[in-house]
Amino acid sequence: MKYDIKDKNMAKAGKLRIEWAAQQMPVLDQIKNRFRKQKPLRGISIGACLHVTTETGNLAITLKEGGAKVSICASNPLSTQDDVAAHLVKAHGISVFAIKGESTKTYYTHINSVLDMEPHITMDDGADLVSTLHKDRVDMLSNLLGGTEETTTGVIRLRSMAKRGVLRYPIMAVNDANTKHFFDNRYGTGQSTIDGIIRATNRLVAGTNFVVCGYGWCGKGLSMRAKGLGANVIVTEVNTLNALEAVMDGFRVMPLDEAAKIGDFFCTVTGNINVIRKEHFKKMKDGVIVCNSGHFNVELDLKGLKSIARARRNMRDYVEEYTLKNGKKINILGEGRLINLVAAEGHPSSVMDMSFANQALCVEYIVKNSKEFENRVYDVPDKVDMTVADMKLKSLGVKIDDLTNEQRKYLHSWELGT
Ligand code: ADE
Repeated sequence: MKYDIKDKNMAKAGKLRIEWAAQQMPVLDQIKNRFRKQKPLRGISIGACLHVTTETGNLAITLKEGGAKVSICASNPLSTQDDVAAHLVKAHGISVFAIKGESTKTYYTHINSVLDMEPHITMDDGADLVSTLHKDRVDMLSNLLGGTEETTTGVIRLRSMAKRGVLRYPIMAVNDANTKHFFDNRYGTGQSTIDGIIRATNRLVAGTNFVVCGYGWCGKGLSMRAKGLGANVIVTEVNTLNALEAVMDGFRVMPLDEAAKIGDFFCTVTGNINVIRKEHFKKMKDGVIVCNSGHFNVELDLKGLKSIARARRNMRDYVEEYTLKNGKKINILGEGRLINLVAAEGHPSSVMDMSFANQALCVEYIVKNSKEFENRVYDVPDKVDMTVADMKLKSLGVKIDDLTNEQRKYLHSWELGT
C-alpha cells in the first residue's frame, strides 16, 4: 500500500481524536452503518483532496466501509493533522499522501500520487485535484465517473471550467447544498476562525475593531462570532446586497481604505485575490493582526507587504511580525493561509457531519446515476439535501410540526384572499 505521511507512530493519538469527532457526527455514522451492510461503493476508487482532519478521517472510513478504495491528499499544505493521517494508513489501509508543512512541490506530488491510484470519483476541496487532472493528467480522464466539490472557491473554478467548455466530467457542488453552506460556511467558519486567531495570538477581542473583508456566508458567521466576543465589527464589501445586509445586521460598513486606519484585527473571507494590499498595510495601526480564512492564500498581498517591510521575525507559532519602513509592525497569521485550519482544527465535527454526509451521499448518487450525467456542475439533489437536514434534526432530538390537510390544501390554492 502506498502512502506518504509524517510518522506512523502518531496513529494512536489520531485514533482517539477521530473517535472524539465521531461522537458529534451521528448523520455520517448512520450512513457508515448502512454503507457497511450495502457496500454501494464496491469496486470504486475514490481520490480525495481534502483537509486531512479528524472529520475527514471519519468520512474516509465511511467511504471505505462502503466498499471503496480510498486515497487522500491534503487540500492545503498546512492543514494536515499528522496523527489522523497515521491512523488512516495504519488501521484502515487508506492511502494518505499528506504532511503538515509540506512544500508546494510536495503538495502537487501528493496530488499526483492520488491520481496514480486511478480514481473513478474525485472529491475535491478547492479544485486543485480537478485542475491538475485537466492540466497534467488528461490520460486519467477516461476513468472518471464524476466528482464532488466541497467549497465555494472550488465551485467557482469548476463553473468557470464548465462555462468555457473545458470540464471533462460531471461534478456535484456539495458546497451549494443548503445543509452545507448554511451551517459549515457560516457557523463552522465563524467559530473555527475565531478559534484559530485566538490560539495563534491569545489576544483579547473584546473592545477591539474587528474588520471582516467579505460578507458571504463565511463573513456573516465570522462577524456574528466576533460581535459575540465584544468586538466592534466593521465589514468591507464589493457587493451592494451583501453590504446592505451587513448594515441591517448592525455592522459598520466602509471601504477597506478607511477600515485600514482603525482596525485592530483584519480577516479576509472573500475568495478573491489581493484584497488587503500595500496601500492598506501602510495605513494600518502599529501591532495589528492580519489573517485570512478564505480557501487560498491569495487574499493578502504578502509580496506587496514584503516590499514595504524592513524586517521580519517569527514571534510565536503562526505569527510573523513585519516591521515596515514607516516603523509600524504588522502581524501576519499562518502565512496568510486559512487560519482556522492552520492554527486551529477547522470546523467543529457537528457541522462537518452535514457537509460530509452530503459528500458520502453524493458519491453514492454518482455511482448510481453517472451514465445520465453531462460534463457540467450539478447541484446536490434536493432529496439528498433534505435527507441530511432530516437526519441531523432527528439526531439532535428536535421535533417539528406537520402541515394539517387544510394548510396543505391552502398552500396549493389561489382563490382565498382577504
Ligand atoms: N474545512 C473546514 N473545516 C474542516 C474540517 N474540520 N475538516 C475538513 N475540512 C474542513
